[in-house]
Amino acid sequence: MTKTPIAIVGLGKWGRNHVRVFAALPDCQVRWLFDLNDRAAAEQLALYPHLRAATSFDQILSDPAVQAIVIATTAGSHYQLAREALLAGKDVFVEKPMTLDLAEGEELCAIAAERGRLIQVGHLLLFHPAVDYIKGLIDRNDLGEIYYIYSQRLNLGVVRNDENALLSLAPHDISLINYLLGAAPIAAQAAGGCYLQDRIEDVIFVTLTYPQRKLAHIHVSWLDPHKTRRLTIVGSRKMAVFDDTETTEKVRIYDKGVLRQEYENYGELLAVRTGDILIPNIPNTEPLKLQAQHFLECVRDRTPPRVDGRMGLEVVRVLAEASRRL
Ligand SMILES: NC(=O)c1ccc[n+]([C@@H]2O[C@H](COP(=O)([O-])OP(=O)(O)OC[C@H]3O[C@@H](n4cnc5c(N)ncnc54)[C@H](O)[C@@H]3O)[C@@H](O)[C@H]2O)c1
Repeated sequence: MTKTPIAIVGLGKWGRNHVRVFAALPDCQVRWLFDLNDRAAAEQLALYPHLRAATSFDQILSDPAVQAIVIATTAGSHYQLAREALLAGKDVFVEKPMTLDLAEGEELCAIAAERGRLIQVGHLLLFHPAVDYIKGLIDRNDLGEIYYIYSQRLNLGVVRNDENALLSLAPHDISLINYLLGAAPIAAQAAGGCYLQDRIEDVIFVTLTYPQRKLAHIHVSWLDPHKTRRLTIVGSRKMAVFDDTETTEKVRIYDKGVLRQEYENYGELLAVRTGDILIPNIPNTEPLKLQAQHFLECVRDRTPPRVDGRMGLEVVRVLAEASRRL
């Protein structure tokens, strides 16, 4: 089996998960690890003594064997690192949000297109087996017409000082809702509050309007008593709830709805219908592993990633508009 040689840059709280997953894939060779913080690299080398750390990002760029670079650094550095990687002829996996600025995201997509390089963005939920299942329901029209979707991504911490809760948490929800609805929003409104630090919002409410009168609402917060990761989809025929804090029963389909019908008096116009609740059996495969495998396949086979730069850019566009409204 040929092994795709990659480097992983950014070995903080999240990047170390990429190291665990890529290092375990049989068709992957992790050639380099790199972090500006030597301690972060040393911690990974203690866990994976067969790997090695680069002393600079340039050392990775100038290694002709490296085909792809996984960037899991803080969001503010994604643009510069991804740009340098693409210009050096490497494919790029970049964590969400792809960039903080729309023009920067557009530039990355343009460079990748010009140079025939790939960009995959770390919108992890699009590799979640539960999301595949729900997307199938929507595409087969099992839920009927989708009226609205709302999501809650709440916890007490992790409080960041380099970005607000919108940039840290909402990329998951925006990418997910765009994917499920197969569209990008046409308008965004947002309100938020800074309670713990100056000018860094801890709690944010975003309302998105999609084509065909569909609505979405996103509530993100790292200042909340409950850990909540829940998405609710209300369709004309059925309703679905995806609760990612559940260990096994993550999706519930409610055979509930309100029927509009022919009527003789006003009271009969809308008939509430309640039926069974279905809890489907969904495989418990780790989304991070599926995402990593997909990236390696794209690099090897030169096929476009399912979650490419254009999708990443749509999320950046919504984040930019919501930030402007805050
Ligand atoms: N997809 C997901 O589910 C998910 C979950 C958590 C975090 N993330 C994303 O992953 C990224 C990292 O998040 P984190 O929680 O690990 O942050 P973190 O602050 O814990 O770690 C970031 C690391 O990047 C390093 N770094 C910063 N700039 C660098 C540079 N120019 N070169 C090399 N190293 C550099 C820092 O030293 C640090 O070790 C963020 O973009 C975040 O949004 C994604």
